Amino acid sequence: MPDMPALDVTTDDLLDLDVDTLVIPIFRGGIAAAGATDTMEALGLSGVPRDDEFRGKVGQTLVLAAPGLKADRVVLAGLGRLDELTDETLRRAAGAALRAVAAKAKRVATTLAEVNPGQDAVRAVAEGALLGAHRDVRYRSKPEPTTVDSITLVVPSSMADAGAEVLPQAAAHAAAERAARELVTAPASDLGPQDLVDWASEHLDDSIDVEVFDEERLEREGFGGLIAVGRGSVRPPRMLVARYRPESPVATIALVGKGIVFDTGGLWLKPAKSMETMKCDMGGAAAVLAVMSALPSLSVNVEVVGICALAENSPSGGATRPGDIFTARNGKTVHVVNTDAEGRLVLADALSYAVEQEPDAIVDIATLTGAAITAVGKRATGIFSNDDLLLEGLLAAAGAAGEATWHLPLWDDLRENLESDIADYEHVNYDDGAGSTIAALFLQNFVDDVPWAHLDIAGPAFGEVERGHRPKQGTGAAVRTLLRWLERRG
Ligand code: BES
Ligand code: MN
Ligand code: ZN
Repeated sequence: MPDMPALDVTTDDLLDLDVDTLVIPIFRGGIAAAGATDTMEALGLSGVPRDDEFRGKVGQTLVLAAPGLKADRVVLAGLGRLDELTDETLRRAAGAALRAVAAKAKRVATTLAEVNPGQDAVRAVAEGALLGAHRDVRYRSKPEPTTVDSITLVVPSSMADAGAEVLPQAAAHAAAERAARELVTAPASDLGPQDLVDWASEHLDDSIDVEVFDEERLEREGFGGLIAVGRGSVRPPRMLVARYRPESPVATIALVGKGIVFDTGGLWLKPAKSMETMKCDMGGAAAVLAVMSALPSLSVNVEVVGICALAENSPSGGATRPGDIFTARNGKTVHVVNTDAEGRLVLADALSYAVEQEPDAIVDIATLTGAAITAVGKRATGIFSNDDLLLEGLLAAAGAAGEATWHLPLWDDLRENLESDIADYEHVNYDDGAGSTIAALFLQNFVDDVPWAHLDIAGPAFGEVERGHRPKQGTGAAVRTLLRWLERRG
């Protein structure tokens, strides 16, 4: 797992700290926030420098040399408008500021957590800073170590204890998101189904029980969807089941992740441009594994069964064809139409298996449809659910985590669109559009009446622009939402 900077809080004066980088908050229009005026004066500046690139908008940064100060540099971190300040603003500002200096700073201190004193704000700044400090240099020929060693949050005296209290959670959530990012960013050549299994064996705590279904067992035990999707690849499919069991859990939750290590589309080959970033198609499984990795260090009192459906969707002489029919784990037959709609096929088996675990709720996470990007955009998750309470809980957790998540419909009317001429179901239908709803309706056939939510992270799983604490490449989408939700469940 990636190295994490140390995190602490202090009530000392920012300018007295033994650090090389100071991050100070500035509101839109150059209004200096907590700690900023003193720092400006110490720099010999009478106000915030004017710069075309820096107006104090959320996530804007300006790095200044700091002659005469103990620190080498000062980062101005834009917070936007004072009357629009939220915890997510602080998280983004901290993320952008740390990213701006992550290649050179070793010890960083900030007064961002003084702007809006409260535990949630401290936590947001801590998370944002740790996420912004993350640099993925694994694939450089000369990997420099990640340079940020420590991050100190200056807090008001009222927050000395309360602020320190939330740092372990912030660190655990950020570490988990960083782990998911690196899994998604790793090229598919390095990360086949078995490699993800190996990652789990290596990185999950010993208290988590890991079970692996290889292709023979999958075949024997009726996982027809995973077999159908995985059969075109030289790297056979796997299903990974990881179990976290606290002493006296208040509930059992199943988390199900789509883990297509690369999605070529299969015989229904994708156009090259759409294939380019398809190493991200295991983003759901990465989120599940990352969540599992964090549970032991958090006080989560629910049993969590993490189920990852792992396969590579490749064309070959042995690949599944349009028109083929398979039997899913729950005994239903599925008529394959478009081999590029493979995610719902592997999830059909994994969801059926989740139901067999008799959980109180099932949440699946999947880079499932391009249509979700059309509906809610690159940055947001589309959420579907058959249970209002579960939906509300997840939306609230997403809000607290600052991950844009929007409710999409499971139109009853469209169910008939998935009827097949010759099998129990087809898995795609284009008659009424609503591609992400159609996919979700197909999944619903495999969850019976268990409260279930489906997170379509096709947009946010992979970043093509950096923004705030959000990086390019793997983003670790949904990890912090799921952890917040599990923490609140018990
Ligand atoms: N993995 C893709 C969905 C996707 C698209 C994820 C863009 C991330 C970014 C999925 O397997 C897929 O190919 N879906 C098809 C479904 C269609 C064939 C019904 C799609 O969205 O085009
Ligand atoms: Mn596909
Ligand atoms: Zn896919």
